[in-house]
Amino acid sequence: METTKFLLHESDMPRQWYNIMADFPRPPLPPLGPDGNPITPDMLAPVFPMNLIEQEVCTDRWVDIPEEVLNIYKMWRPVPLVRARGLEKVLGTPARIYYKNESVSPAGSHKPNTAVPQAYYNKIFGIKRITTETGAGQWGCALAFACTLMGLECKVYMVRISFDQKPFRRLMMETWGAQCLPSPSTETQAGRNMLQEFPDTPGSLGLAISEAIEDAVTDPTGKTRYSLGSVLNHVLMHQTIIGLEAKKQLVLAGEKKVDTVIGCVGGGSNFAGIAFPFVLDKMNGADIDIIPVEPTSCPTMTRAPFSYDHGDLAEMTPLLPMHSLGHKFMPPPIHAGGLRYHGVAPLISHCINLGLVSPRAYDQVDVYDAATTFARSEGIIPAPESGHAIAAAIDEARKAKEEGKERVILFNLSGHGLMDLRGYDLYFRGELVNYPLPEAEIAKSLHNMDKYPKAQA
Ligand SMILES: Cc1ncc(COP(=O)(O)O)c(C=O)c1O
Repeated sequence: METTKFLLHESDMPRQWYNIMADFPRPPLPPLGPDGNPITPDMLAPVFPMNLIEQEVCTDRWVDIPEEVLNIYKMWRPVPLVRARGLEKVLGTPARIYYKNESVSPAGSHKPNTAVPQAYYNKIFGIKRITTETGAGQWGCALAFACTLMGLECKVYMVRISFDQKPFRRLMMETWGAQCLPSPSTETQAGRNMLQEFPDTPGSLGLAISEAIEDAVTDPTGKTRYSLGSVLNHVLMHQTIIGLEAKKQLVLAGEKKVDTVIGCVGGGSNFAGIAFPFVLDKMNGADIDIIPVEPTSCPTMTRAPFSYDHGDLAEMTPLLPMHSLGHKFMPPPIHAGGLRYHGVAPLISHCINLGLVSPRAYDQVDVYDAATTFARSEGIIPAPESGHAIAAAIDEARKAKEEGKERVILFNLSGHGLMDLRGYDLYFRGELVNYPLPEAEIAKSLHNMDKYPKAQA
């Protein structure tokens, strides 16, 4: 009998995260403060607990995963590495396609891999309440889940378009004891300003981040901190458990080499999670194509310049060196809500600049074609975000067929789409439209960015 799922025992779960900061041939540029100088850890102290700030600037290659976090990971980890035999058959490809199934976490995506350690480090630092933003709702659910396990309060600002489209995500957060409200809200100055200027705005991740930070730093008790579900160095590091597990499982599958590694990118965390352990191999000379995938409607990696920019709309975050469409960018209301972010993680931007990864963008309709092909051959209904990775995996498998090559393709199934069926509905009815971003929109959004320091790739 052929094996389809490659499973690790709990005792084989990695006990350390991988920190790519230790291995770059040259370090990434530092984040800058309002005065244009590199920020210091104490400047971040009102926003994050110091133990996470220390991880943010850490350059150790391996960082121990705390025992309490490992014990919670064991609720769903190690997650299966699945050989996509059904998909291979439908495509008639000689490629061997594998995916990490991160949809099996309680919240339905990879996000708890960082939500749990973030809640843990906040708790041991004495924090009582965490605020955050969420796009599609996956991150808010993950943090709500993690906070309830750690006995912390959780408040989630959810981008309004998703709040309206995905009421069940709000109910999941409430089931885990969190408070969830639509952003823009009337609870913060950033939200009120936006509502006054654009009462009908669908919201954006950049704005929701501003609201959540403002809420945290203005709490008079000093016991609230903010938590970000992607983009930052420590968040990407927490996700590397995905790729580290995958490496062990590929050995179980008898694979000596992987040719292509693929993940979708919003802020960049699930892609970094699956890819960074393989980027290490690539830096050490391995021949691997590593492909981050984004929507054509929010083309940060494929079309946006590399520059210093804020991570949020209200300019509360430091200036980050990243590929960015400009922090005022309001992405079109596409159905992969988790990929509607104006920037991309500085560590991934650095990988792009060093030529270690090769970004790609797909139109929404092609993504749903791929996601549906996957659902009908592998059974799992993917999150639309994950559909982007599937679209690239299918293209690579077709290329292998054309070239008659036995390639090994690995991608990350970052989440399931059981709460995202509205997009599928529109797709089946032929009402889903593509929004490749017009050049004029990019120019408009980047207007005014000249005032920030230039970042050299
Ligand atoms: C299922 C899923 N995949 C991917 C993403 C994109 O985020 P990131 O790039 O940080 O992995 C999200 C974000 O919400 C998500 O919910």
